[in-house]
Amino acid sequence: MIGIFDSGLGGLAALREICRLRPQTDVLYVADTAYVPYGDRDEGELTARAQAAVAYFAAQRAEAVLFACGTLSAVALPRLAPCNTPLFGVLDPAADAAARATQTGRVLVLATEASVSSGAYVRALRARGVGCVLQRACPLFVPLVEQGLTSPADPAVQGMADHYLSDLASAGADTVVLGCTHYSYLAEAVRRQLHPAAVIDAAAEAARACLAALPHAGGSGQRRFAVTGSPERFARRAAPLLSLASSLPVASVAI
Ligand code: DGL
Repeated sequence: MIGIFDSGLGGLAALREICRLRPQTDVLYVADTAYVPYGDRDEGELTARAQAAVAYFAAQRAEAVLFACGTLSAVALPRLAPCNTPLFGVLDPAADAAARATQTGRVLVLATEASVSSGAYVRALRARGVGCVLQRACPLFVPLVEQGLTSPADPAVQGMADHYLSDLASAGADTVVLGCTHYSYLAEAVRRQLHPAAVIDAAAEAARACLAALPHAGGSGQRRFAVTGSPERFARRAAPLLSLASSLPVASVAI
């Protein structure tokens, strides 16, 4: 079983990709909804949440943990002590994909405040030869997605995308990284603002990299969900993001 961890609904974009590519893979998805949003938390808090997640998944005998979260990948993952469970994040796969995609060497990263101020995406992209990295934090994207507002036709989504991105259309980036997994669900709205830039979905890239590193991870397609906040609320909001007609069973977990 692969453990997937995020502050909330964003990591479902990685689960969606795992389901598409290797549907037989067993997954335990844990959303730390009692602590969402992560984007304005500090390094100490984020590292503590990541440590707690690793301990929880190890106790559940996860064969690997995917931090389907740009913030934990940027801030906490580099600070975790070595452990027996393989740990994956979104940062390196996203940076790899962006470095491959860019023709002009000018890449725009959209991510949380914590990810942006860590500079981790900038370092990762520069290490891959990208000459110019622009960054923009879009903190209100996270509550939008948590509220189930993801349609590019929704006036709130349009307004928010305009608010954060309208001045970036002329910035010349030919590649945009959705560096927070919540933003994956706003990909279309971002595309409309920043067309014709290539849009890199960090969640999907991370899912692919994780599966590639775990060629034998499989199972019977079991999906389990647990949250640190309200299970009912998560179940209601997650079902449409996973294209499920009815809500899904979600357990409560204290980690
Ligand atoms: N989805 C997470 C990320 O990729 C966390 C967003 C948040 O909780 O602020 O950064």
